[in-house]
Amino acid sequence: KLTERETILTLIDEAMAFYRERLLSGREGQQAMGYLLKRGMTRKTIDDYRLGFAPDGWDHLTRYLHSRKRSPVMAAQAGLIVPRKKGEGYYDRFRNRIVFPIFNAQNQPIGFGGRVMDDALPKYLNSPETPVYNKSRSLYGLNAARPKCRETGTVYVVEGYFDLLSMHQFGIANTVATLGTSLTADHVRILRGFVGEGGKAVLVYDSDQAGIKAAQRSVAVFQKGDLEARILVLPEGHDPDSFLMEQGPDDFMKAANSAMAMFSFMAESAVDRYGLSVEGKVRIVNDLRPAIAAIGDPVARSLRIKHLAERIGVEESIVLDKIRRWKPAPAR
Ligand code: GTP
Ligand code: MN
Ligand code: MN
Ligand code: MN
Ligand code: MN
Repeated sequence: KLTERETILTLIDEAMAFYRERLLSGREGQQAMGYLLKRGMTRKTIDDYRLGFAPDGWDHLTRYLHSRKRSPVMAAQAGLIVPRKKGEGYYDRFRNRIVFPIFNAQNQPIGFGGRVMDDALPKYLNSPETPVYNKSRSLYGLNAARPKCRETGTVYVVEGYFDLLSMHQFGIANTVATLGTSLTADHVRILRGFVGEGGKAVLVYDSDQAGIKAAQRSVAVFQKGDLEARILVLPEGHDPDSFLMEQGPDDFMKAANSAMAMFSFMAESAVDRYGLSVEGKVRIVNDLRPAIAAIGDPVARSLRIKHLAERIGVEESIVLDKIRRWKPAPAR
C-alpha cells in the first residue's frame, strides 16, 4: 500500500508522461514543439528536461487518469486537477500550455509550470503547494546544476524557466531558477551546500524594475545565510535567456566575471534612488548603515566605507563617524 506522498508522486509522474506524449505526437503537439524550437530550445534540451504539452480542453488529463482508475481526490491533492465549483467532477489545471516539470533532489517530478504560447494571461501557471511541493524549498534545475556548482564553486541564480534552460543549453549548467518566488533562507542553505566552503552565488535577475527589486530583497537573505553573492546586471530589458540568445555565452561570461559585489550593487541602487544632492548623500549613508555594520570582517568593512565615501564624495572620516554612532534598532 502506497503512502499519500508516494501516491501523489506516482500521479505526477504519470501526468509528466502524459504531457510528454502529447508534445511528441499529434498536430497540437507539433505546434507546441514548434514554439519551443522557435524559442531556440534544442531537441536535447526538450528531452533532457522532460518538457511536455498540456492539450487544450477541460478534461484531457482528468479523463486519462480516470481511465487508469486513479483517484481524482488524490490527483486534486497532487495539484493536477481541480474540483469544479458547481456540481461534481474535476477539470485539468494545465490547459493548452507548454509544461515544465519541476524535480526534487531525488529527481522525482513534484510539480509543473505551464506557459501559454501566445499573449494570453496568466503567462505562467504553477502547481499549488502540495504535500510533495514546497515552493520555498524547491528550485528549478536543481539536480542538473549540482555537479557543475560543486566543480566551479559558483551558482547562477535566475528567475525563469527559459532562463534556466538557455543557461544550461549554452553550457552554463551551474544555474538554478527561483521561478518568480522570492529567494528564501532555505534556498540559500541549499545553494551553500552546492558550492561548498568559499563558494559564491551570482544573481542574474531580469534587468527590469521587478528584477532589480527582487535582487535588492535577496541581498539580506544572502547576508543572513552567510553565502557570498554577486549581482550581474544585464543590459536593460534583457533576461538571461534573451541575452544568451542574442549575444551568446562568451559575452555572458565576460559580463559575469565583472559581476558587482552585493555592497557595490546596494550602493549603486541607493545612488540611483536618492541622487548626489546633499540630502541624497545623507539618505544614501543612512540607508547603507545596516549593510555596512553587517560586514563581519573589519578590513572588508573599512574598504567598503572608503569606497562609499569616494563614490559619493564625502570625507571618509565623516561616513565612519556616522556608522560608529549608528546602533541597530532593538529586535522586537
Ligand atoms: P518568457 O516570456 O517565456 O521568456 O518568460 P520569463 O521567464 O522571461 O518570464 P518573466 O520574466 O515574466 O517571469 C520570470 C518567472 O516568473 C517565470 O519564468 C515564472 O516562473 C514566473 N512568472 C512570471 N509570470 C508569472 C505569472 O503570471 N504567474 C506565475 N505563477 N508565475 C509567473
Ligand atoms: Mn483537444
Ligand atoms: Mn521579468
Ligand atoms: Mn524574464
Ligand atoms: Mn524571458
